[in-house]
Amino acid sequence: MSAAEHFLVITQIAELRRVIAAARKDGHRIGCVPTMGALHAGHISLFARTRQLADVVVATIFVNPSQFAANEDLSRYPRPLEADLNACREAGVEIVFLPSVESLYPPAFDTWVKVEGLSATLEGEIRPDHFRGVATIVLKLFNIVQPDSACFGQKDFQQQALIRRMVRDLDVPVQIVTCPTIREADGLALSSRNAYLNPAERRAATVLSRGLRLAEVQLRGGNPDVAAVRENVRLLLAAESLVHPDYVAVVDPDSLAPLEQPQSRMAVLLAARVGSTRLIDNCLIDRHSSEPSTLVPGP
Ligand code: PAF
Repeated sequence: MSAAEHFLVITQIAELRRVIAAARKDGHRIGCVPTMGALHAGHISLFARTRQLADVVVATIFVNPSQFAANEDLSRYPRPLEADLNACREAGVEIVFLPSVESLYPPAFDTWVKVEGLSATLEGEIRPDHFRGVATIVLKLFNIVQPDSACFGQKDFQQQALIRRMVRDLDVPVQIVTCPTIREADGLALSSRNAYLNPAERRAATVLSRGLRLAEVQLRGGNPDVAAVRENVRLLLAAESLVHPDYVAVVDPDSLAPLEQPQSRMAVLLAARVGSTRLIDNCLIDRHSSEPSTLVPGP
């Protein structure tokens, strides 16, 4: 199966299983990129990374209702299907899996996956059932696609940590690969939700990456007071009138446990409402690495 010859859009679970089984029989490695559509350059970079690991790239497009709370943006979540299919085709994706809500959540659906500790903190405190929905749908997609590898963006840092933990705990035979966040030239992390921002909010939203940059400079520079660094970032965010920070956290990148002292590897995670749009962003800090920052210069 090669990108040029094949581009399949499959809506039925049974058909997808048949096509994947045939590809596997031919010795092909399967790579999967789960998405909710509204594809942007971040997703395209995940397809490109998956291509390096697999012979057949499967993109799933499914706006998963169970990860949205009643007060969230499920109904207005962007669904530009035609543009998404074109983007997949151009990126060399072989198979797009486009299931219906009814096929993934049949009547009397009653089984949920909960990654206890990692889903209780940070985003989980603000969006209580969000990660139960994410873990459940990702495990279902893994069971259907049975990929050898699956790529996720670092942008959703807690999500990728939780999926790694789920895969380890439940012995799911898939390699999880986390790919760098793709940013606009001014530092804003790409997100399907950026489409909700009006021009003033879009300008204000750059403060998220500037906040991360501030934390990076201070923590790398050896500031021993993590609480002060967090507060400095929160103040920078709050100085933008359109921005309302939900949290600024400095955590261990694997356990997501909050840090009071700097350590060699740290993740800075933040979430803020920009107007009525909730955005998240993060950066990884390795104090022993001389790699340049992937964030914009600043603060
Ligand atoms: O990151 C996303 O787009 C979603 O949370 C995912 C992983 C596709 C599950 O619905």
